[in-house]
Order: sequence, then structure tokens, then C-alpha cells
Amino acid sequence: MWSADEMKAILFRADSMARAVNPCREGDSGKFEVTTRDGWARLGRLHTSTHVMNTPALLPVINPNIRTVEPREMWEKYGFEAIITNSYVIWKHESLKSTALNDGVHKLLDYPGVIMTDSGTFQNYVYGDVEVGVEEIVEFQREIGVDIATMLDVFGTPSMSREEIEAAVMETVSRGPQSLDAAKKTLLNGPIQGGVFADLRIKSAEEMGEMDFSVHPIGGIVPLMERQRYRELVEILLACRKHIPWERPVHMFGCGHPHLFPICVALGADLFDSAAYALFARDDRLLMPWGTVKLDDLNEFPASTEALSGYTPNSVRALGDQARCELIARHNLEITASELARCRQAIRDGTIWRLVEERSHTNPSLREATEYLYQNLPLGLIDTTNPLRQRGVLMSQDIGSQPPSIASLGRLLNNCQIECEGAIIFGGSPGPWRERIGGIVQTIHRRWPNVAILIETPLGLIPYSMEDVSPWAHINGPKSIWERMNNEDLEFDLEALCGEKKNIVRLKIGDEKPLQISKIESIFGDGVKGDSTIVRTSIDRETAVVKMKYFLDLNCEVARDIMSGCKFVYSKTKRVKNIITKDGIHILSPRLTDGGLSLTLAGARLLHGTQIPTVVVIDDSVPFTRQGRNVMHGFIDEVKGQLTPGLPCLVENGEGEFIGHGVAQCTAEETKRFRKGIAIKIRDGIGE
Ligand code: GUN
Repeated sequence: MWSADEMKAILFRADSMARAVNPCREGDSGKFEVTTRDGWARLGRLHTSTHVMNTPALLPVINPNIRTVEPREMWEKYGFEAIITNSYVIWKHESLKSTALNDGVHKLLDYPGVIMTDSGTFQNYVYGDVEVGVEEIVEFQREIGVDIATMLDVFGTPSMSREEIEAAVMETVSRGPQSLDAAKKTLLNGPIQGGVFADLRIKSAEEMGEMDFSVHPIGGIVPLMERQRYRELVEILLACRKHIPWERPVHMFGCGHPHLFPICVALGADLFDSAAYALFARDDRLLMPWGTVKLDDLNEFPASTEALSGYTPNSVRALGDQARCELIARHNLEITASELARCRQAIRDGTIWRLVEERSHTNPSLREATEYLYQNLPLGLIDTTNPLRQRGVLMSQDIGSQPPSIASLGRLLNNCQIECEGAIIFGGSPGPWRERIGGIVQTIHRRWPNVAILIETPLGLIPYSMEDVSPWAHINGPKSIWERMNNEDLEFDLEALCGEKKNIVRLKIGDEKPLQISKIESIFGDGVKGDSTIVRTSIDRETAVVKMKYFLDLNCEVARDIMSGCKFVYSKTKRVKNIITKDGIHILSPRLTDGGLSLTLAGARLLHGTQIPTVVVIDDSVPFTRQGRNVMHGFIDEVKGQLTPGLPCLVENGEGEFIGHGVAQCTAEETKRFRKGIAIKIRDGIGE
């Protein structure tokens, strides 16, 4: 093992480089926290006994016998916070084994970051000659000081029969307790097997999830990836992801091809390992975010990396075997790392599904897998996706595909039908619609108050009240996407929004107002006279009611009651800035950025006791919430209603008293499981 002085020197050296060892706090070892999320895609921090590593992370595979790129370089130059190596290979080679036992695996590999080891299962699958014991290999990993060890699971291949796979799953499960005992405090990987059988993947996830593992790799997927059977890979993730404890990272065993990262990340994968960077380099193949290219086929490099800088394909071909392999391996590493960085940034930006869509066009099997995913989006994924986006959507011709953010808002809309005697549908142009049709909307509202006003968008119909809600308000694409919806889609959406068949009038945005009015009169008659002085207020009030229903889960009658007699404060651009009740209390501010609602403390207090999602915190947490500090995982006793990450919620104490409000970062189920990280970002506490 490294001595304390050596460790200090490493810390100092690493500190002065871009990468610093990031020690974990006492008691946090094995905990995983999520810091940012978009649906199931998440940025997290995994606490090992000596480090805190950021996820999604790529662990380059190090073969202790052939180090194509030195682990030290992985750490210092490329910034990999973790690597994976094979404990069975170390165990089998006497010289490696004795150094590892005497000096520790970190010194053996000269790597100060997180070291994960595999157990020999994969060798058994490839060569069939592994004769190490179940406990023996875990004890060995512990003794050489790895940060995350792996139990000896039984590899289930896609060609195995159901009976064989079931036996592999059950054998792996039965080895769990003895492996965990042997691991003692060392974090242990509990692989999920199950071949291509969805129910066995679920069984494996549930049984392994019951035990005290720290990470769950999805095993047995290498043969699928080698044959580009990506749809089955997606099916496996869809089957088992929600059965794996959310508070543990999920590792895609052997998944190192960059073009698979976005779809796996979007489905909740946190860790990847790559041997591909070195294996492909040996065959003169270069990884690119969109696929693999052969050195022999290149006249120019289609992507630039530091490794290739100053080289041409010809000059690389002229290098000796060893030098060429190392150079391509470095290029492959850079490409792989940057694709995962792109995924992390996309999670922050709320654009992970855009990346999924983009990458899906690079490979037919990946496209098929992506289309399968769009058609089989799990409700759990839709429900955990914040429907409100900071950015709009960029639309290609592929307007059939519905990313979860759209699906989640669509689901909200479909759940709350508008009561009306007919509908007027505006279409043909992008927002901001208030500027284009605000005037005629007021006329319609005054003369035909029982007719719903809808907007036709390339993503489907929306009520006019949602006209400033992003992503609908910011759909970017060529003019062609604004061509009218076909009748079948329109009828489908109309029924979802307004109930069974209704009279409709379809109007083109930009047509003359008299023409539009005469079309409406031809279907709905003259209408009523209505009071023109209060029509704007009445539209704004209805908009607030609709948004309270969608974003705060309020029942319409409750929302209408709160909004009755309320007043509005307008911005210079005549948009509603603040909503004030008839008693003069400022309760809400519509957000101009994404069309959502921000509650004030007084507004939250007023809504306490309605249907708005509410968390009950334990006594220890009450003073902190009152002071406006975030509610941390582990301090929530109960959740009333459904928490949606990104949407508002209230906080009360054990006596049911209101103590603050904030924005949920997680679902109700996750509040029961996580032990680290922020559960509710508090906006205001009520004070001491
Ligand atoms: N490496 C690639 N696939 C697997 C697997 O299923 N189990 C283990 N332990 N290692 C792997």
C-alpha cells in the first residue's frame, strides 16, 4: 500500500495538476448522490472509501500485463477518475499477485484514482478455465485494496436457453451473501444477469437489489453489443432499470463504444468501461462519436484529437506497430471521453434526448433501437421528466418521435380534459403566439366563452393557455414542420384534450381577422356580447388555473376559487408578472423563461392543504427547512401526492404544519431510498 507520506505526495502532485484526489467524508463510503438529472439520466457522485467520483463515468480497462496507455497518464493527462482492471489476471500471475498483495493495487498500477476490479467471470465466459473460488476472488480484491470489487457472477449469454439463464441468475444470487461477507467494507459490484429474458432480468435486479451491493453492473451484454443487437440491449435496460435500486449506480459491463453512451445514459446508466479503445487500436480502427473507421480507408482524419495532431493517415500508417497502436489508443480514449463529457453536458442542458436522436442516425441498429425506445417509453421515465425545459426543441424531419419531456407534458394535458362545446384551432406558424393571435383570442373568449382555443404545433395540439410553455413555445425547425397536422392525428389529440367529437374550426395564423371571424360564426353562430373590459383578466385567470392544474396538481375548482377576484401585475411587454389574490397577497409569478409558475412563500402557505405535492420531514430537519436550507435525503418521512423533479412542492413538519416550499429534485420513491444529496431545493422557509 502507499504510505501516508506517499499518499500526501500524490495528493500534492495531483493537486497541482488538473485532477485532484477527492477524498470522501467519513461514513459516506458506498453512497451515491444525484446532483442534476433529466428523467432517468443523471449526474452523480459515487463516494468510495477514499474518493468521490463523478458520474456518468468511463472506466478505461487496464490489462495489467499490457498497458497500452499508462494508468498514470489516464489520471494526469486524460483526467479519468476511475479505471477497471481484472483481479483474476493479477491473481493468476505470481509477480503481479505478490506486488499487489505487498504494495496494493494502486501502487501496482501507479494510479491514485478509483480502481474497480472484475472477478474473472468474463475470462470464464471467453476461455472457460477460471478455477478461483467465489469467496477467494472477493477476498483477494479486498486484500489488494481495490475501491470497488466484483463478485464472481455467472455470465448469461444471449444464446442460452431460458432454463440455463434462470440457473445462471439464481447461482449468481446465491453467491451474493458469501461474496458480500468476504468483501467486508470494500464496495462490491452485484451484476444483473438474465440474458435476453426480460422477466429474468427483472428477477435478477430485484434479488440482487435486495442485497447490500454498492453498484449494479448489467452483465452478459457484450455478445449483444459485438453483434450490434442494440434493440435487445434497450429491451434489457427497459426491463430491469426500474427494478435496480435508484440509489445505486448502474454500470454497463463492457460497453465502451461512444455511440451507445447517449441512449444508455438516457436510460439511467451511470458507469461504462472501455477495452474498445485498446482493442480497436490493435486492429488499426479509430473510434469516432458516430462509429468506427479503419485507418486504411482514410485520406484525412474526419475528427481531430490531440493524439492525431501533426499526423496524417499516411504518417500514422508509417509508424511501427507498437507506436501506431499506442497513438490510435490515445485517440480512441480522447474520443470516448469527450463523448461521455458531451452526455454529461447534455444532462445539464436538458438536451440528452436530442443527442440520443442525433446519434441514432449514425447506425441502422442504433436507429432501430431508438425507434423501439420511443415507442416503448416507460411511464416511469415520462413521469420523472420535468416537462418544463429551459431550451426549446430542435426538430428535424423526424417529428414523429416524442422525447420524454414532450410525452410528459402531453400526459399532463391528456389527464385534464377541457370542458367545452367546440374548439377553434390555430395553426401554421411558430410562437410567440400571443403576439400573432392575442387580439383575436380576446374576441373569441368574449363572444364564444365556451369554445376551447387550441394551437396546432408540430408536436401536437396544446391549449392556448400553454402558449408560452417551453418546449412548445420554442420549437425550432424548417418552415415545413409547420405544415398542418393530418386529420387523424388532429382528431386523436382533440379527443384527448376536449373529449369526444366536437365542432371545430381550423384557422391559419396570419389570415385576415374578418375572414377568421366569419369562419367561426359559420360554425358557432354570433356568440354572446361579453364584456370587453374584463376579457384580458379573464384569459389570464384561466391561464393561471390551467397551469396550477398542470404544474401544481391542483384540482380546477380549488384553483378557480383561489384565483377568483385576483389581480395581475403586468411587465412592460404586457405579460403577467405577478398574481395577487383578492386579499392583496402576491401568491404566484409566472416564469417568463419556461412558462412555469414560481410560488411565493405566501402563495405556498395558501396552497398548503390542497392537492399540491407535499413532503413531511422528520423533526431533525424542521429547523433547517424553516431557515430555508435544502431538505436532504434521509430526512423525509412521507410524501403526499406525486413529486415530479423540477416542479414545486411544499414541506410540512410531523404535525402537518407548513414550514417551507421548494422544488423537488426526485420522485417519492427515491426519497425512500437515497441517503445522500438534495431531495428538495428549498426556495423559502417560514423562519424560526
Ligand atoms: N465483463 C463483461 N461482462 C461481464 C459480466 O457479465 N460479468 C462480469 N463479472 N464481468 C463482465
